[in-house]
Amino acid sequence: MHICVIGTGYVGLVTGACFAEFGVQVACVDNVVSKISMLQEGKLPIHEPGLHELVTKNLREGRLTFTTDITKAMEQSLVIFIAVGTPARADGATDLRYIDEVADSIGRCMRDYKVVATKSTVPVGTAKRIKERIQAAQSEPIAFSVVSNPEFLREGAAIEDFMRPNRVVIGGEDAHALAIMKELYSPLYLIETPVVITDIVTAEMIKYAANAFLAMKISFINAVASICESVGANVQQVCDGIGTDSRIGPRFLNPGIGYGGSCFPKDLMAFRAVAKESGYDFRLLDEVIRINEDQRQRFLKKVRSVLWTLRGKRLGVLGLAFKGGTDDIRESPAILLVQELLREGCQICAHDPAAMDRAKEVLHASVEYTAGPYEAATGADALLILTEWEEFAALDLGRLRKLLKYPIVIDGRNLYDPAIMSAHGFSYYSVGRPASLTEDVAAGIRPHKREHS
Ligand code: UDX
Repeated sequence: MHICVIGTGYVGLVTGACFAEFGVQVACVDNVVSKISMLQEGKLPIHEPGLHELVTKNLREGRLTFTTDITKAMEQSLVIFIAVGTPARADGATDLRYIDEVADSIGRCMRDYKVVATKSTVPVGTAKRIKERIQAAQSEPIAFSVVSNPEFLREGAAIEDFMRPNRVVIGGEDAHALAIMKELYSPLYLIETPVVITDIVTAEMIKYAANAFLAMKISFINAVASICESVGANVQQVCDGIGTDSRIGPRFLNPGIGYGGSCFPKDLMAFRAVAKESGYDFRLLDEVIRINEDQRQRFLKKVRSVLWTLRGKRLGVLGLAFKGGTDDIRESPAILLVQELLREGCQICAHDPAAMDRAKEVLHASVEYTAGPYEAATGADALLILTEWEEFAALDLGRLRKLLKYPIVIDGRNLYDPAIMSAHGFSYYSVGRPASLTEDVAAGIRPHKREHS
């Protein structure tokens, strides 16, 4: 089968490369000429584990092509995936400008039957809008079907999520289009992947409901962590205690400085707007969003209370990406915290294994970037852990202790066991767990308050 994927962002590129790996003939389309030239040479504009190998292999074997010419890409394609960006408008609703432009182009270029599948996360009802725009742009009526096929790809694990998904959701209205979509995903039948077939609005709804539920899980455990801090309980043990209940499950229960990224913040706002438009006041989502924002403020308050005063303090920062395993800093709680700490007069020395180049674009020269985590810690008044990179969870604690000016670690991702940190002589603060304190550290840091205030 021949398909084309319009939009070569994270979702479009992963979708295109993975379908090519399934043996499908894929044309990826984008209107940014420089991006397409890069991709034609096998160079990737994003960091995603395993994607480069997949793109170069399928380019070489001729199953994957990149073009700016949508007419040419559509010619032989039976299925056209729309994977363009759906940014948020100022009021939280989704800006459908790019979706509309693509729908118009599809309508203008259509010469025979096509299945048009939305991969981008779009408000409930968008498939209907796409259908109407395609019809309006056609010079003569040509039959086509619109289906919704939402993605559930996690950045950093997107290839794995595509190749071994928990499920595939396809929303459609005619049996022919659904059969074509099912055939496209047929390699997944070998690993017995459930395929959930629904109508279109239900498929659109599934995507929002999934992301909102996951975000709710994170905000729930973060709220529990805050109470744990007040009553002296240990949130990690609460997670073990509740996560072993199969009705709750252990995943997505890591407390921290809140969720970020290109999906959760945007999708929650959009879902809230969709609910409002439908006449339902989804106050639960307001709370999920509020708790998430509070979580950063609570962390900041913790840093302030540990260090007494922030002005002039030198802080080592581990992590700038919105989560481990990616170079993406969109809506990253780490970046938002660094910006706040800079405003409060801290000197920041930061390291991130992948996101420093992107961070430089928003933090400018005000941050010192280091080659590794130990360099970021050198001479610092305290070390902050802001992103859950695996390499930050296995640091040489003896070496770290010697490099820091004061052995203070404030961990926003609960990467360490407080007892082990204590045994290594650290004053260790984390989220939702009692702090492990070292007396001489507190005594050492406090005179700074008098010097600077
Ligand atoms: C998410 C969804 O998981 C994916 O299905 C969807 O299609 C796109 O959005 P992604 O944005 O890549 O994927 O990130 P994810 O791994 O879900 O993490 C989102 C945020 O939540 C990160 O900032 C992460 O640090 C945070 N998080 C995640 C927690 O704070 N605690 C957790 O237990 C899990």
